[in-house]
Amino acid sequence: MDSKVIYDVFYLLAAILFILGVKLMAHPRTARRGNMFGILGMTIAIVISIMKANEQLVSLQIFTLFVIGLCCIIGILFGAILATRVKMTEMPQLVAVFNGIGGLASVLVAGAALVVATDLSLDKNIATALSGFIGSITFIGSAVAAGKLQELKFFKKGFPLPTFLRHILNLALVCGCGWAGYSLLSASPDQAVLLYVAICGLGFILGYTLTAPIGGADMPVVIALLNSYSGIAASATGFVVGSNILIIAGSLVGASGIILTSLMCVAMNRSLLSVLFGGGKVGADVDADEVYATVKRTTAADVAMMADMAERVVIVPGYGMAVAQAQNAVSDMAAILEKRGVTVEYAIHPVAGRMPGHMNVLLAEADVDYEQLKELEEINPTFETVDLAIVLGANDVVNPEARKEGTVISGMPILDVDKAQQVVVIKRSLGPGYAGIPNPLFALDNASMLFGDGREAIQDIITALKEL
Ligand code: TAP
Repeated sequence: MDSKVIYDVFYLLAAILFILGVKLMAHPRTARRGNMFGILGMTIAIVISIMKANEQLVSLQIFTLFVIGLCCIIGILFGAILATRVKMTEMPQLVAVFNGIGGLASVLVAGAALVVATDLSLDKNIATALSGFIGSITFIGSAVAAGKLQELKFFKKGFPLPTFLRHILNLALVCGCGWAGYSLLSASPDQAVLLYVAICGLGFILGYTLTAPIGGADMPVVIALLNSYSGIAASATGFVVGSNILIIAGSLVGASGIILTSLMCVAMNRSLLSVLFGGGKVGADVDADEVYATVKRTTAADVAMMADMAERVVIVPGYGMAVAQAQNAVSDMAAILEKRGVTVEYAIHPVAGRMPGHMNVLLAEADVDYEQLKELEEINPTFETVDLAIVLGANDVVNPEARKEGTVISGMPILDVDKAQQVVVIKRSLGPGYAGIPNPLFALDNASMLFGDGREAIQDIITALKEL
C-alpha cells in the first residue's frame, strides 16, 4: 500500500483519539482516560509526522532527525519537570504558559516556512499572516495572563493609558497588522519575510495592550479565549505547512476554547466585548475597616456544635480550599456529619478557584459523590433553608458587592450564602480575594469567621465533632 495512505490512516486514528479525549475530559470521572487518549493521539501524530518528513527530506537526513529527536527530548523533559513540580494551585498559570508556547510555536513554524518558501501562493500567505497575527497575540497575552494569575506586582499596576487612548492604540495596531497582512499577499519572498516580522512585532504589542488592562475577576474569560487563539493559530499553521493533523488538532482546541469562553461569559454574566474592550472595571475605594467593623470570630468547637445541630449543611469551597489542600479533610468532615443524619451538599460556583472546574476536580479527587455537588442555579433558590453554610476559602464568589453597581465584580452571579440561617467563613485573615475588594458577607449578623488555614480549621472541627 502507498505509504501516504498509511500515514493518512494513522492521522485519522490520531484525530479520532483527540475527539474522544476531549469528550471524556468533560467529566471528572473519565478525565484521566481522556487525557491518556490525547497523549496516545499526540504520540501517533508526532511519530507519523517525523516518518513523513524523513521520507521527504533528501539532504542532511541524519542531522535533521537528530535535531528533531533532541528537541523532542528537551520538550518532554521541560514538560515533565514543569508538570510534576508545579503546585495544583499554579496549574492555571501553567496552562497559560502552555497556551503561550503554542502561540509562539505557530509564529516560528509559519515564519520558518515563509523563509524557506521559493514560490508563494495566496492561500498559504493568508494562513501565514493569520498564524503570525494570532500566534503573537497569544504568546504575549498568555505571558501577561500568567503574570496576573501569579499575582506579580508588575501586572497588578494596570495599563498606563486611559481607555479611549488605549482603544485608539489597539485600532492603530490592528490596522498596521491588516496593512502588513494585505501587503504580504502579493509580496516577493524577501519582502514577505519583512512584512511577517512586522505583523508579529505589532501582534506582540497588541497581545500586551489587549490583556494588560483586564483584571478584577474577568481573567477566566481571558484564559479560555487565549486557549482558543492558540488552537486557531496552530490550525492556520497547519494550512501553511500542509499538515492535516495540525489543522484538525488546532481546530479542536480553537472550537473547545470558544465554547469554554462562552460558558465563562455566561458564568460571569459578561459579554465578551465588555471583557475585551471594557478595560477592567475600577470600583470605588472602600474602607475595609469600616466594612469589617462588626465581624465576629468563632471557634472550631462552636462550628462543630452548629453543624451537629443542623439538618442541612452546605459547604462552599473556593480558591483557599485548593491552597490549603483541604478537600480530603472536608470529605472526612462531611462523612462524620452524614453519619449523624445531617444532609451535606457542596455549592459550586463556575469560576471558584483559578481554573474552570477547579473545585469539581479537587472534590472528585477526595471521592465526594458527584450528586452532592450543586451548581449555582440549583442551590441559590434554596439557601434560605440551609441551616449552616461553611464557606471554605471562597471570597469573590460569595461577595454580595456583586449585586451593587460600580464595583469590579458588579453583575457577576454569586452564591447567595448570606441568605443561609448561619454562615461560617473559614480563611486566614480578612484579606480580599482575587478581585481585591472587601466582602461585607463577613460582617453580617448571621456570619462569623473561623480564622486559620483551611485544612487545619476543618481538622479542628472534625476533632471537636468527635468529642461531642
Ligand atoms: P478568591 O476570591 O480568590 O478568594 C480566595 C480566598 O481564599 C482568599 O480570600 C484567601 O483569604 C483564602 N485563602 C487562601 N489561602 C487559604 C488557606 N490556606 N486557607 C484558607 N483560606 C485561604 O476565591 P474564589 O471565591 O474561589 O473566587 C475565585 C476568583 O478567582 C474569582 O474572582 C474569579 O473570577 C477569579 N478567577 C477564576 C478563574 C477560574 S476559571 N476559576 C481564573 C482566574 C481568576 P486569606 O488570604 O485571608 O486566607
